[in-house]
Amino acid sequence: MLTVLKSLETLWLWREQQDGKDIGFVPTMGALHEGHLSLIEKAKSENDQVIVSIFVNPIQFAPNEDYDTYPRPLTKDREKLEKIGVDALWAPNALEMYPEGFETSVSVAGITQLLEGAYRPHHFDGVTTVVNKLFNQIRPTRAYFGEKDYQQLQVISKMVRDMNINTKVIGCPIHRDKSGLALSSRNAYLSPEQLDIARRLNSVLKSAPDLMRTMDIAEAETKMKNILGQAGFDKIDYVVIRNAETLKPVKNKREEEMRVLAAVWLDKTRLIDNMGI
Ligand code: PAJ
Repeated sequence: MLTVLKSLETLWLWREQQDGKDIGFVPTMGALHEGHLSLIEKAKSENDQVIVSIFVNPIQFAPNEDYDTYPRPLTKDREKLEKIGVDALWAPNALEMYPEGFETSVSVAGITQLLEGAYRPHHFDGVTTVVNKLFNQIRPTRAYFGEKDYQQLQVISKMVRDMNINTKVIGCPIHRDKSGLALSSRNAYLSPEQLDIARRLNSVLKSAPDLMRTMDIAEAETKMKNILGQAGFDKIDYVVIRNAETLKPVKNKREEEMRVLAAVWLDKTRLIDNMGI
């Protein structure tokens, strides 16, 4: 039975009843797909109780972004959670999360200024503020985040380390369709023609290790950017090879763990993807 919690009071009552149990937590913005469900399956296998949150967090969207049009199929989402055997759904409304007079922000420096942070200036402050609140509300034993949002995973891991939050952050592999396209709630915005182009993104990232055998990092980045342009993407925010933990430029490619990360546009839809090298 899925317990649906909509007020902080009921959430805290539920939390009291779980005392002593291992609680796995999967934060989401809903429009659940197989990617989200893979995180939930992992949480189920490692904990006594699993709680999922669905909250489209207004403060992580810029005014020109898709907060208003972000898909919110709550009934379908509830059915999926029931079917997969989740114990509790935390689904507060915006006023429950941010009551009048709310004026605190949690902000991680450094890594948040790079890549996504450079293109979406206040995005990570919105993410860390809401995830910090969610962690305080739920006090989970373990929390599950997808490598799909690789920089988000690193930012949250850093926040948890820096603030001594007693929750283990667990990164989970990217769930892809047969063509390699990373599942995303935003894929729903794409036309069939755009989906064909979107499917090229992962194959280009996959070529990074080969390219690096014959050229230096800057050349490999330029090559991938050109191929993405030819594939039909309308704009490329970045396609870069970085240190896998700090996301800073690589100083020594023989010694550092590396990751290739990209953000591209198809008309008004922005897609991100990344892979380990
Ligand atoms: P959302 O985009 O709904 O994603 C929720 C979680 O699912 C994130 O950890 C994300 O990385 C993971 N995820 C999404 N697509 C995935 C895929 N194809 N494979 C594996 N994992 C995938 O990320 C957010 O929400 C928000 O920023 C949130 C953390 C909830 C804070 O508001």
